[in-house]
Amino acid sequence: MIRRSVIAGVGAYLPERVVPNAELAAKVDTSDDWIVERTGIKQRYMAAEGEFTSHLAIKAATHALSRANMDGKDLDLIVVATTTPDNTFPATAAKVQAALGRSGIIAFDVQAVCSGFVYALSVADNFIKAGQVESALVIGAETFTRLLDWNDRTTCVLFGDGAGAVVLQAGQGEGTAKDRGILSTHLHSDGRYYDMLMVDGGPSSTQTTGHVHMKGREVFRHAVVNLADTVREAIEHNQVTIDDVDWLVPHQANRRILDSTADKLNLDPAKVIITVDQHANTSAASIPLALNQGVTDGRIKPGQLVLMEAMGGGFTWGSALVRM
Ligand code: UT7
Repeated sequence: MIRRSVIAGVGAYLPERVVPNAELAAKVDTSDDWIVERTGIKQRYMAAEGEFTSHLAIKAATHALSRANMDGKDLDLIVVATTTPDNTFPATAAKVQAALGRSGIIAFDVQAVCSGFVYALSVADNFIKAGQVESALVIGAETFTRLLDWNDRTTCVLFGDGAGAVVLQAGQGEGTAKDRGILSTHLHSDGRYYDMLMVDGGPSSTQTTGHVHMKGREVFRHAVVNLADTVREAIEHNQVTIDDVDWLVPHQANRRILDSTADKLNLDPAKVIITVDQHANTSAASIPLALNQGVTDGRIKPGQLVLMEAMGGGFTWGSALVRM
């Protein structure tokens, strides 16, 4: 028997304010037609003034914990994936830990931009597999709209705010793809592409927060190749086939990337959970938000095989194969 990290609960939170494309078209030289046609995005959610990443994270965490019939006292580890922490330090995870009322446990942030949730899931899985903790809360939370230059139409239409969370609990498996829990994670990075998708500020370089800059076409080109590769990697590692996968829960950057990844993999497009139309790109939050959507609407059921994949700034990319 081997240790497995089993998903005991999934939760999410979206801010109240919905911003449709038309609202952006009134501010910058863009149109609903362009945004829908090139990205699939119809609207995004935006955090209110005074609403921070930690607030979204805590709400998503509380939802996931209630779904798992647990509370903060049951947790040994909190990992928050975010690119938009409340402050440069301490970690946003510290605020989540304090709010959940469990002093003394391990809590830290992981920064891998849009791949952050897959990275954080992998880190927590390894803590559980090593026997260091029995349970973990993994959160992807972002107020990404705070990094946008609202005069730059090439980026400001693409992103939104939100948070999603999963609760992991140690379980046992036989070491096959039939086990419940995280079957494997696969992480990659290539810093030669640092400048392709970045924020031009930071405490060490400019002492400002900065704004997002992206060479969209280049990122797109790398995304379709890297995502298909890391999906194949997860499938081959676990000796399953693409047909065994019940749901692809991808990072939601662009509808065309999702379609093209499914096409490259010969995956039935009906098996892809898509939220980019409603949420836009919420960076580290997009996978747990999409997972929550699939679980909440009843598409994703216990025992099913779910494949997550993401690609983001760095570049970073990776996948996780999970039996729910
Ligand atoms: O989450 C991390 C990973 N991120 C991604 O995976 C994003 C990957 N990239 C993309 O999703 C796409 O490249 C974008 C959606 C960012 C851009 O779509 P595109 O089809 O690659 O457009 P483009 O950058 O090649 O631009 C085409 C045209 C340009 O005009 P010209 O030079 O042809 O006259 C842009 O200036 O579209 C123009 N354009 C816009 N027009 C109206 C760019 N943004 C807009 C806009 N509204 N918002």
